[in-house]
Amino acid sequence: MSFELIRTNIIDRVGWITLDRRDALNALNAVMVGEIASALAVFSANPDIGCVVITGSDRAFAAGADIKEAVDRCYPETFLEDFLASWDAIASLRKPLVAAVAGYALGGGCEVVLMCDVVIAADTARFGLPEVKIGVMPGAGGTQRLVRAVGKAKAMDLCLTGRMMDASEAELSGLVSRVVPASNLRAEAQAVAEAISTKSRINTMAIKESVNRAFETSLSEGLLFERRTFQSLFATHDQKEGMAAFVEKRAPQFRGR
Ligand code: HXC
Repeated sequence: MSFELIRTNIIDRVGWITLDRRDALNALNAVMVGEIASALAVFSANPDIGCVVITGSDRAFAAGADIKEAVDRCYPETFLEDFLASWDAIASLRKPLVAAVAGYALGGGCEVVLMCDVVIAADTARFGLPEVKIGVMPGAGGTQRLVRAVGKAKAMDLCLTGRMMDASEAELSGLVSRVVPASNLRAEAQAVAEAISTKSRINTMAIKESVNRAFETSLSEGLLFERRTFQSLFATHDQKEGMAAFVEKRAPQFRGR
């Protein structure tokens, strides 16, 4: 795959997307979001890939949606084109998605992080939703997913003041899965993604779907969804293989189905 504003590669069943627009701190313009969606579609269709990692540079994961591209927008076109709807391709990936974040993850960059399933942050990472400072508000899920990630009080604080939080505050708040030294970021993200990729793919995809269901439904409906999904895994080869391998004290050979 060859792109203008992102780079992609595959390492041991893990698909990597590296945002590569350094002169603009990886500001997410339409071209870049389209390229991310294309890369995700290719990784999604590749049966050898069990997990995807999205990352940026040392200085910025992404400093937001591209303000320069949006400055002259007006409402009718924004509505008619459903501005920012193309970002839904990131949230709708069915395979697990890991964010490896160093430096700024602001505005739309933070919203991409909120669409990811596991968030590994370098100790240099800084998160925020500063849209309020430029006369708008989060528009790619920030006001909704941040509340679910960190609770109302912290979400209001961040959305209404536009302040940034550092990696340790983000970890304490529940936005981040783990914090690592910046020099270990890629290795740690690869290790996490590999750990996911070596599991049964149908299983990891079902787990992602079930955890995300918690955001969409009542507890009793979510528990029912989980129970039925759990039961359905007994129709897979990988349940037979995983449990047999445990009993026989050997490593499982998953087929992903
Ligand atoms: C376009 C951006 C950008 C962005 C940075 N740049 N963020 N361009 N959109 N979101 C560009 C700068 O214009 C500059 O380009 C270059 O990247 C380096 O940035 P500097 O500001 O010179 O760096 P620094 O002084 O280190 O400050 C870093 C920063 C600051 C604190 C991250 O860049 C900043 O506040 N950026 C905007 C953050 C933000 O508001 N994000 C939310 C966007 S709104 P030049 O050419 O001058 O060198 C959003 C959702 C709303 O995400 C949807 C509508 C867009």
